[in-house]
Amino acid sequence: MDPMDPMNPINPINPMNNVGTDPPMEERFAPRARPKRSPRYGGRPTAITSLATYVPPRVLTNADLEKLVETTDAWILQRTGIRERHIVDPGVAASDLAKEAALKAIERAGLTPDDIGFIVVGTVTPDMMFPSTACLLQHKIGAHRAWGFDLSAACSGFTYALTTASQIVASGAHDHALVVGADVMTSIIDYQDRATCVIFGDGAGACVVSAAPADEGAILDYEHEIDGSGGAALCMPAGGSLHPPSQETIDRRLHYVKQDGQTVFKFAVRKTEEISRRIMERNGLTPDDIDLFVSHQANRRIIQSASEKLGIDPDKVIINIERFGNTTAATIPLALNDAVCSGRLKKGDLVLLASVGAGFTVGSVLVRWGF
Ligand SMILES: CC(C)(COP(=O)(O)OP(=O)(O)OC[C@H]1O[C@@H](n2cnc3c(N)ncnc32)[C@H](O)[C@@H]1OP(=O)(O)O)[C@@H](O)C(=O)NCCC(=O)NCCS
Repeated sequence: MDPMDPMNPINPINPMNNVGTDPPMEERFAPRARPKRSPRYGGRPTAITSLATYVPPRVLTNADLEKLVETTDAWILQRTGIRERHIVDPGVAASDLAKEAALKAIERAGLTPDDIGFIVVGTVTPDMMFPSTACLLQHKIGAHRAWGFDLSAACSGFTYALTTASQIVASGAHDHALVVGADVMTSIIDYQDRATCVIFGDGAGACVVSAAPADEGAILDYEHEIDGSGGAALCMPAGGSLHPPSQETIDRRLHYVKQDGQTVFKFAVRKTEEISRRIMERNGLTPDDIDLFVSHQANRRIIQSASEKLGIDPDKVIINIERFGNTTAATIPLALNDAVCSGRLKKGDLVLLASVGAGFTVGSVLVRWGF
């Protein structure tokens, strides 16, 4: 194999390998009693030190949707597990939801916006094409010393952003990073398409990732994939450089989410299981070692099917899609927040996050909860 081929394990630019820091393959996969921080993380230990969420007050129920499209409360509940979702009022953008969650998260971490060195916002519904939502958010919260950017990974936005921020902090570049998942899905949903409009809602979640002693909780490991061959199964075709907005794109309703639901469903079940199994195996864990499984909330049946295949006790699985629908990059922090508030997530718990989203994007992050 060509040593400069990016897939070649000895090529240092292959991000899967971290040549020089990873131990040999056998060691990485050897079972361990307690997961330690992955050798994928260079530098310092990092931890999630706070969490906050925000959803807009307005609620769209299944009964409301019955008036818009040919559907029923019973169908939506049975096929998706959703009863209601929160939606923004006109003029409210992703950065507005992000601001509410971010300010609370920074305060809960005992910090001020000036302490934040880096901001990453997972979103597919930025306020506008540019400037980035991270820039708009930085200004709105007064994080005068931060730099940052948006990250487009759809429903994997939060897991990707968490890994990105954790690596930045681990590198020593910054002590505190702000991770945000924020989406106003109602801005890109076609309320004439019953196959998509019943699923999505709006919301935001934020957490602070800081350098922290390993015994105070830690972000232990991650696993991510992309598979662009699945791009057409879930996308918003127009509005970008391929199909810039025109009368035709509007007439053809191409600036809305298009989804091949069954393809996405099957991929999501398979990959949620696969990526979760892989990260557990690499860390020498069995499903019994996991205290809480927090999967992206796309469909109750996806979460139940994947967690059943994994053999995770249903009591350890958080499902809160009933109240929020699929809020894309915000589902995982919203689920974590519910788990904390209901006492199901406690300091010291081992938490497995997993996501599958448009792209396709796939992610998992293993976290020792620290508060
Ligand atoms: C979209 C989804 C809920 C549809 O559920 P499903 O059980 O796969 O339903 P199907 O698409 O097979 O459609 C079954 C029937 O229900 C109908 N249907 C679709 N949406 C409906 C709705 N809102 N109300 C009533 N009937 C509906 C279909 O027209 C179809 O009718 P037909 O059999 O007469 O053709 C499901 O495929 C799904 O959740 N996919 C993954 C979505 C996802 O995770 N997206 C985000 C990724 S991160």
